[in-house]
Amino acid sequence: MAYKTIQVKTEGRVGVITLNRPEALNALCDALTGELAEALAAFERDEDIGCVVLTGSRKAFAAGADIKELQSRDQVSLYLNDPFAQTWESVARFRKPIIAAVSGYALGGGCEIAMMCDFIIASETAKFGQPEINLGVMPGSGGTQRLPRAVGKAKAMDLCLTGRMMDAEEAERAGLVSRVVPADDLMDTVMEAAEAIATKSLPVAMMTKEAINRSFEVGLTEGVLFERRVFQSQFSLEDQREGMAAFAEKRAPHFKHR
Ligand code: CAA
Repeated sequence: MAYKTIQVKTEGRVGVITLNRPEALNALCDALTGELAEALAAFERDEDIGCVVLTGSRKAFAAGADIKELQSRDQVSLYLNDPFAQTWESVARFRKPIIAAVSGYALGGGCEIAMMCDFIIASETAKFGQPEINLGVMPGSGGTQRLPRAVGKAKAMDLCLTGRMMDAEEAERAGLVSRVVPADDLMDTVMEAAEAIATKSLPVAMMTKEAINRSFEVGLTEGVLFERRVFQSQFSLEDQREGMAAFAEKRAPHFKHR
């Protein structure tokens, strides 16, 4: 499949999607969001893919929704034909593990799409922000909901109300990103993490992701019950028997479902 605004490749069991609109700092135009949704759907279907990496360029992960496209929209046209709903659903509801590798700007919809991934690894040059307020609107792709869950109310309010950017060090301190590495090491670090994930049992990795995501939707008692039931169900998997046998036999596990 030939894409115009993204690049897609596989390395072993890892699928890599690179946002590729350098002329617009990877602004998320309709064409790009459509292609991203298609690429994710293809990786979702592909049984040989165990983890996906979403990245941009060194200068920009994505500088937000395409303001030049948004400029001419009105309320009714956005309501009737929401350009983001399908793509955001395809990222937020992507069932396999997905890592955001962020270098440079991750602003507005760019920050929001990174937060839809399971975790973010950032380069030292990364800058995160929700600057929509400077455009006379507020975040519209989950920023007001995911950012406070990630960094707490105070910093989310600060970022969304002032529109300021936060550097990688502050983002790591705040809990938005899992690791910060030098820009030159970003892709190696992310690929190493993705390859490690892709060697695990895929159903177990997916269930782990599902359980952690459930913690943001339900109360503790319900969440713990969900976890217990899923944990118990994993004892019907060959991969559970293989993983535990491999430990006892002091060898590496060979998971069937991966
Ligand atoms: N949409 C459309 N085009 C964009 C863009 C965006 N979000 N961000 C950058 N570009 C374009 C610029 O217009 C410019 O194009 P031209 O060369 O044709 O003029 C090109 O990318 C390079 O950008 P700059 O010249 O501005 O680069 P810079 O290094 O001086 O500044 C920046 C970088 C600070 C990121 C600046 O580009 C910027 O502020 N971008 C907008 C960030 C923003 O407001 N994002 C939120 C968008 S709204 C949103 O995302 C809503 C939502 O929640 C869904």
